[in-house]
This record gives sequence, C-alpha cells and structure tokens, in this order.
Amino acid sequence: MTERQQLIAGNWKMHHGGPSGCALASAIVLACGDLAGVDVVVAPPFTGLAAVAHEVEGSRVSVAAQNMHHEPKGAFTGEVSTQMLLDCGCTWVILGHSERRHVFGETNDFVQKKTKAAIAAGLRPIVCVGETLEEREAGKTLEVVSAQVGAVLADLGGRPGYGVVAYEPVWAIGTGKVAGPEQAQEVHAAIRKQLAGHSADLAENTRILYGGSVKPDNAGTLLGCHDIDGALVGGASLDAESFSKIVEVAPSPV
Ligand code: 13P
Repeated sequence: MTERQQLIAGNWKMHHGGPSGCALASAIVLACGDLAGVDVVVAPPFTGLAAVAHEVEGSRVSVAAQNMHHEPKGAFTGEVSTQMLLDCGCTWVILGHSERRHVFGETNDFVQKKTKAAIAAGLRPIVCVGETLEEREAGKTLEVVSAQVGAVLADLGGRPGYGVVAYEPVWAIGTGKVAGPEQAQEVHAAIRKQLAGHSADLAENTRILYGGSVKPDNAGTLLGCHDIDGALVGGASLDAESFSKIVEVAPSPV
C-alpha cells in the first residue's frame, strides 16, 4: 500500500505578484491550516516570492517558483538562479510547464538541465509533462509523455521521491476540459511504469500530480485514482476557498 502523501500545488501563473499575493497566501494559510495529511504548495510570480514566503512562514504551506535558470549566475538578463529562489524562501520549483514549453520554446534538454540544477541546489522540482490535442488525436500521448519523463528520469532517480512529476495535458489547461479519470489514470500508470524501469524506489516514492482544469467539483474523482498523488491547480488556486476545497478532498495516505 502506498505511503505517498498527496500534494496540492497552486500555480498562480502571472497573477498576484504584488500585495494581493500576500492577502491570497494568508487566506490560504487560514483555510488550509487544519487540513493535515496533505502537502500544500503555492507558486506566485517571481516578484511575490519573498513576500509570500514571509507570509506563510511557520505554516504548513510551502512556496514554489514557476521557473528558474540552470546556470548559477552570469549574463542571463531576466533570469533567476536557484540560489536567488532559495534566498526568497522557496523550497520547490515548477519546471517545464507547458506554457514554458509551448510559449517560450523550452525543450526536454533544457528542462533536464534545470531539473539537475534544482536538485543539486536543494530545490524540489515539479516537472510538468503532457501532450497537445494534436498529439493526443494522433495517438502519440504516451510517446510524447515518455520522452518528456525520460529526459529527467536519471536526475529524479538520483534522489527518489524528492522530485515530483505533474501530468498536465495541454488541451485541458485553462480550457475547462478536464481529462476523465480513466484518461488521466492511464497516463499516470504509464509514467509510474517508466519510473519503475529506473528503480522500484523511484516508482513507489515519486508523486505524480494531475493538472488541467482541476476544480473542487472534479478533484475528488481525480485524486481518488490509484496513480494520482495530488494536483497542480491553476485557475482554482487563485481563490482561497476553492483551493482549500481541493486540499480538503485529497485523500490521506493509507
Ligand atoms: P488550470 O487549472 O487553470 O487549467 O491550469 C492548470 C495548470 O496549468 C497548472 O499548472
């Protein structure tokens, strides 16, 4: 039986990077304060990281960045290093989000470099994978996801359970089209099998989150699936009540 504790992470994307981020974080701490047995993470924009980390200090809510650069320092205008994120109070970092891959051209190779650097620096990576609608319709879902997971397999395998994989079908992000529990479970099981190809330890200890239009009313069914160990929530994480309702329905480890 699994001992994996569920993880609910809120990806705020390009919202609440200023004072409103502190208000949202404080409302989330209040709403999630009593909900034990689930890990809770919020990911504000870079500009809000330090203030939000200060706001949630001493609570059960941890802070993630939404991106980072793999080099420790240098002439990389607009980029942020692992040490800068640690200095802000981050303990997690989201990597290879589909918006990074598809809007900003991040490749599997680039995501691998970031994953390696994050783990080396002591930041826990949440590596996002997922197929586009065209890829799904062409029957290439498992092939695409397997290449994305394959790129970071050795890095995640170096420290089983430290990193997290988030399966976010691109067609389900911000569209209101949620993957059905069977559709999501099929891909999660395939990812778990791929992790097992590296080591049983990696497969047993890695949390695989689902992301894409997760809301309070569909979270229960998704989080009840055997290989779904939590959620990466976009839109519904911008409201403390809807986010905490998702945390509330996440099952505790058995
Ligand atoms: P939505 O929940 O808004 O679909 O966003 C999902 C997502 O991209 C989380 O990283």
